[in-house]
Amino acid sequence: PERTLVLIKPDGVTRHLTGEVLRRIEAKGYTIVALEQRTVGTELLTEHYAEHQGKPFFAPLLEFMMSGPVVAAIAEGHGVIEGFRSLAGTTNPTSAAPGTIRGDLGRDWGTTVQQNLVHGSDSPESAEREIALWFPQG
Ligand code: GTP
Ligand code: MG
Repeated sequence: PERTLVLIKPDGVTRHLTGEVLRRIEAKGYTIVALEQRTVGTELLTEHYAEHQGKPFFAPLLEFMMSGPVVAAIAEGHGVIEGFRSLAGTTNPTSAAPGTIRGDLGRDWGTTVQQNLVHGSDSPESAEREIALWFPQG
């Protein structure tokens, strides 16, 4: 079955929303098949966010992602890549639809980089690449 990489970003972990995010994934019917909380460094994040290298928010994005622990998970189920993106809502939490993780639980705090609680892989290729990066042991 299809798998996607989910990250609960430092804002989500610090605000004690780990359980709430995992609850929504499970309530939707997906299965959590791997789960780990850890702090991460520049090397992993530079690879993870390679597509954003050179953009003005790249350095603040990495700084934000290193500001506290991250929860990394693999969620599994038919259609989970698109399904989790749908649960998460759009990137900007101010305009993300109510009912979504970002829309219900996120807001703009006036920081340089958007703090939007979660990450989800955006394609099958991204999912494969990101799962190998965050869970190299398989
Ligand atoms: P991720 O799941 O984290 O990958 O978010 P996303 O797929 O919704 O957004 P994207 O991959 O385009 O950007 C990654 C992260 O960079 C976002 O979650 C934001 O925190 C930040 N970001 C992206 N675009 C912008 C932007 O235009 N301005 C600012 N300030 N931050 C941005
Ligand atoms: Mg993205």
